[in-house]
Amino acid sequence: MKPKLFITREIFRDVINKLSTYYEVEVWDRFREPPYEILSEKARVSDALFTLLTDRIDCNLLKHSPRLRIVAQMAVGFDNIDVKCATDLGIYVTNTPGVLTEATAEHTWALILSLARRIIEADYFTRWGEWFRSGTAWHPTMLLGVELQGKTLGILGLGRIGSRVAEIAKAFNMRIIYYDVVRRRDLEEKLGLEYVELDKLIEESDIISIHTPLTPETRHLINEDRLKRMKRTALLVNTARGAVVDTEALVKALREGWIAGAALDVYEQEPLNPNHPISAFKNVILTPHIASATLDTRRKMAELTAENLIAFYEGRIPPTLVNTEVVNKKKPGFMS
Ligand code: GLV
Repeated sequence: MKPKLFITREIFRDVINKLSTYYEVEVWDRFREPPYEILSEKARVSDALFTLLTDRIDCNLLKHSPRLRIVAQMAVGFDNIDVKCATDLGIYVTNTPGVLTEATAEHTWALILSLARRIIEADYFTRWGEWFRSGTAWHPTMLLGVELQGKTLGILGLGRIGSRVAEIAKAFNMRIIYYDVVRRRDLEEKLGLEYVELDKLIEESDIISIHTPLTPETRHLINEDRLKRMKRTALLVNTARGAVVDTEALVKALREGWIAGAALDVYEQEPLNPNHPISAFKNVILTPHIASATLDTRRKMAELTAENLIAFYEGRIPPTLVNTEVVNKKKPGFMS
């Protein structure tokens, strides 16, 4: 009998078909994520889960899923999964690092450039006739933006994505500083980066781009105090996790002009309610958590998730295992 796999959303058909040769697959085919109660029910009778970042895999769910051996997440972030609890229970957790680095870094740059050069505002200005009504074809002070050359980019979190964002910044002749809990001297040399303490990054950056995972230590890392200490001309970009920024404090910062603008792809509450005060600012760009949303990347993410599930099925250690110490607790595979 094949082990049971619950896939929490419709993914690419060929990936589902491939998985079906190893697993008895059930797919949640609605557009919205399965409610927690249904997810728990499905987990209770599954040997494996294929999850997305919107699926809450907490300790309660894991403890009540006696057959569950692997949670394979199609995302690089896994703050929705209680990994410690999974490890204690001998459940493997995998994610999809690497394959979405380029797409996420590209989206980050799309946001930085759009914010610096006021692309969305300019589009509205042109499209809705404000330019036409102004009667001026060209004006020396119309829609002035910020030039990147010579400015300081502060990278918060120098993992794969942060490093790639830094690498691209070289093309704009920016000064690049970074803060991370792990100092990366190899990358400092290779990419011409400067390591600084968090406070210095906050105070000296013209643009701050966030690339840290969400952990108890990074939750609300960008808080009221730090927003107050940023340059009044600073731009804040977040393509990591919404809760790294205290949104309420950010709204205050924008309202009171502590910083000059923000571009967000991630939010504390997703989907974002359009009535949220953050939606009202002209100097804020909002995208709906799509930094990895290219067809190429989403395919690779689904394929890597499937590879992890297949490796586990075959008794191999999944290629991108998160909780590597789980191997000492239980061998991979459904035989043991
Ligand atoms: C997306 O946010 C991811 O973690 O892959």
